[in-house]
Amino acid sequence: MEEALGRESIRLRVEEYGKIWMLLRMFMESDDPLTVMLIIWGRPGTGKTTVARKLMDNAKHAWKNLEQIYLDPETAGCRGLFSALQHACGLRGYSGLEILRLLRNRFLIVIDNVEIFSPEDKQVSTVLRISEAFPQGSFFILLIFRSDSIPVDISRVPPPAYTIYFRPYTFDEIRTILTEFLRGHEGFSVDEPALNTVSRIASFSGDARLALEILKTSLKTSKDKHVDEKHVLEVSRKLADNPLEYMSANLSDIHDRMILKIVSEHTPNIRLKNLFEEYRAIAREKGIRPLGYTQLWKRIRILENKMLLEFKVSSFEGGRTGVVWRKDLNWAMRL
Ligand SMILES: Nc1ncnc2c1ncn2[C@@H]1O[C@H](COP(=O)(O)OP(=O)(O)OP(=O)(O)O)[C@@H](O)[C@H]1O
Ligand SMILES: [Mg+2]
Repeated sequence: MEEALGRESIRLRVEEYGKIWMLLRMFMESDDPLTVMLIIWGRPGTGKTTVARKLMDNAKHAWKNLEQIYLDPETAGCRGLFSALQHACGLRGYSGLEILRLLRNRFLIVIDNVEIFSPEDKQVSTVLRISEAFPQGSFFILLIFRSDSIPVDISRVPPPAYTIYFRPYTFDEIRTILTEFLRGHEGFSVDEPALNTVSRIASFSGDARLALEILKTSLKTSKDKHVDEKHVLEVSRKLADNPLEYMSANLSDIHDRMILKIVSEHTPNIRLKNLFEEYRAIAREKGIRPLGYTQLWKRIRILENKMLLEFKVSSFEGGRTGVVWRKDLNWAMRL
């Protein structure tokens, strides 16, 4: 384990990390060109990105002959996952011979937030079948999905392919993450019951990001740098009233933010038709060119994939209509 943990140790997710490291080592030790596909999935804030980043950092020091690429389609734009990949590999504009020469290297490719594509998306299946496109290449591909269930049909991915599930964090794990976080914030004092309360709230969904968000906000709004249980409860309630801030933390798209804002203001749901009208009005007000109906609907499906809202078709006044639901904040119900 010592070796698997590399230079910098990772205290949580040791088992998951160890598995990934073992697969990566097998990949590095193989003599023939080999493409390994590893699919990581789990709910928001369960440490997927954190572990992948740490893996990349440790692998960088362990192997000099491993090229690394980190892709986040959310920031790279959804248009061309594969072209972004080619670009990152430096393959664009290269001749076939040059590509083959380049592919002598081994690549660790991490693609984060893959859930923003639908499972049937051509881009995803292109990546999943990359070994067919580049039989000479050696790729270790880590696909990270924010998802509650297995995001792809693994039997349709050319082997070797593996999946690793990141289960929600437990109370104790979240408590540990908070304690670690506080080490970097000297001068603050946070009561034991306050830390337990934050851990309890966040452990309903197993989400470390939520726990850190509550704690950070509590520190920011504390008097005399002291935080007690009453204060964290107050902060949590405010967050529950306006979950947008926390939920959309890493939403870069202005339309996504507008959609989520509208949805968050309608409890518990809004009809798609009304959402579209409200969205257009707000866009116009802000001087932003609004998306068309189909485009808006696509964004909604993406936000659903990201577990930020739910879309259902319901019977309504005798007909069928699309309804967009706020994501149920189950932790907020228990405050
Ligand atoms: N094992 C850990 N040790 C320390 N901090 C952690 C750990 N796991 C998660 N965190 C912290 O929790 C937050 C969320 O973690 P991370 O971004 O890795 O989650 P994720 O699974 O990638 O979530 P998402 O699906 O929303 O992208 C980050 O701020 C991260 O620093
Ligand atoms: Mg992530």
